[in-house]
Amino acid sequence: MKILITGGAGFIGSNFVRYWIKHYPKDEIVVLDKLTYAGNLENLADVKDRISFVKGDICDEAAADKAMAKADMVVHFAAESHNDRAIMDPDVFVRTNVFGTHVLLKAALRRKVKRFHHISTDEVFGDLPLNSKIKWNEASPYNPRSPYAASKAGSDHLVRAFYHTYGLPVTITNCTNNFGPFMFPEKFLPLAITNLLEGKKIPIYGNGRQVRDWLYVDDHCSAIDLVLHKGKIGDTYLVGSEHREYANLEVAKILAKIMGEGEDCIEFVKDRPGHDQKYSINAQKIQTELGWKPKHEFKEWLEITVDWYKNNKSWWQRVKSGEYQKYYTLQYKNR
Ligand code: NAD
Ligand code: DAU
Repeated sequence: MKILITGGAGFIGSNFVRYWIKHYPKDEIVVLDKLTYAGNLENLADVKDRISFVKGDICDEAAADKAMAKADMVVHFAAESHNDRAIMDPDVFVRTNVFGTHVLLKAALRRKVKRFHHISTDEVFGDLPLNSKIKWNEASPYNPRSPYAASKAGSDHLVRAFYHTYGLPVTITNCTNNFGPFMFPEKFLPLAITNLLEGKKIPIYGNGRQVRDWLYVDDHCSAIDLVLHKGKIGDTYLVGSEHREYANLEVAKILAKIMGEGEDCIEFVKDRPGHDQKYSINAQKIQTELGWKPKHEFKEWLEITVDWYKNNKSWWQRVKSGEYQKYYTLQYKNR
């Protein structure tokens, strides 16, 4: 079987490539990735001989069409993925996440792929009050509140439109916050870990009471695998950790302890505009219908992730040089 993985040089995409090679060693894998600031061939260095890598933009019809030739399945990760960057410059989010997905969907129709799986986020459902007991499910209404979330919501709608209108065999997963190796150090956990390793502080937006649900990246990969093999065409599956949800400040304290630091390594900085307070997922459908269960407990796998960053300093030090410095200064200078 031939599988096209878009965005395979990014964080989750590269972990998924590795997962797929391990579980389906006979499959042919093509990765289509533009190698934006977030894409990095070093993320695929250990598997480079097992894949065909195509540098290309999902917004480019010819590149999308060519990469999809003879593909049985498409797993679509490619996206602009960081909320703070979307606040600074939303244009590229609309271009890549909405238009790029549209271009891929058209190519998938032309190429008659047997499955187009779209990777999406729980952020499309919006924001829950901190004291809310609500957990979103597949029937929850869309209510995105940030440019990133709105662009992902737009892409989800297009994917469903191609299913209903043209019969394209699609599935969607909407997942909570992932963590693990190769996560770009602009996101909270890798930024906090690498800052501590550099002797800097953990910046906490606002009061740090915002709640996220953290899922180890391999659990996300196994959920996608199950949906690809057993999921119902046209259906959406929500993916969440089932562990306790954590406030950002609590996570920062856990991390400080793991890394042998006191709580004075935490600094409060200006809040993110429109900061969503809480995300919460009910993952009953994928659990009961497909038998998925997350296997990685948060604190244990956070420690393992910290070790990965300790052992892969050259990876993140390279990533944190150059363009990253400009971004970091712009994002954190007056906070
Ligand atoms: P990432 O930013 O680490 O990687 C994105 C990848 O897409 C990069 O390799 C980048 O080069 C590539 N890309 C960007 N624009 C492209 C374009 N125009 N053409 C081709 N390639 C392009 O992102 P991630 O955190 O790995 O997220 C992957 C997917 O999972 C995204 O769709 C994101 O919305 C979704 N998601 C992420 C999380 C999370 O916690 N990180 C949670 C739920 C869903
Ligand atoms: O919920 C899924 C989403 O999770 C994905 O769709 C996104 O691609 C992914 O980036 C993530 O979005 P968040 O905005 O939740 O992740 P981030 O790591 O940017 O922030 C996590 C929380 O930490 C959030 O409440 C903001 C806060 N934060 C973040 C940064 C970067 C801080 O307090 N300080 C920081 O410096």
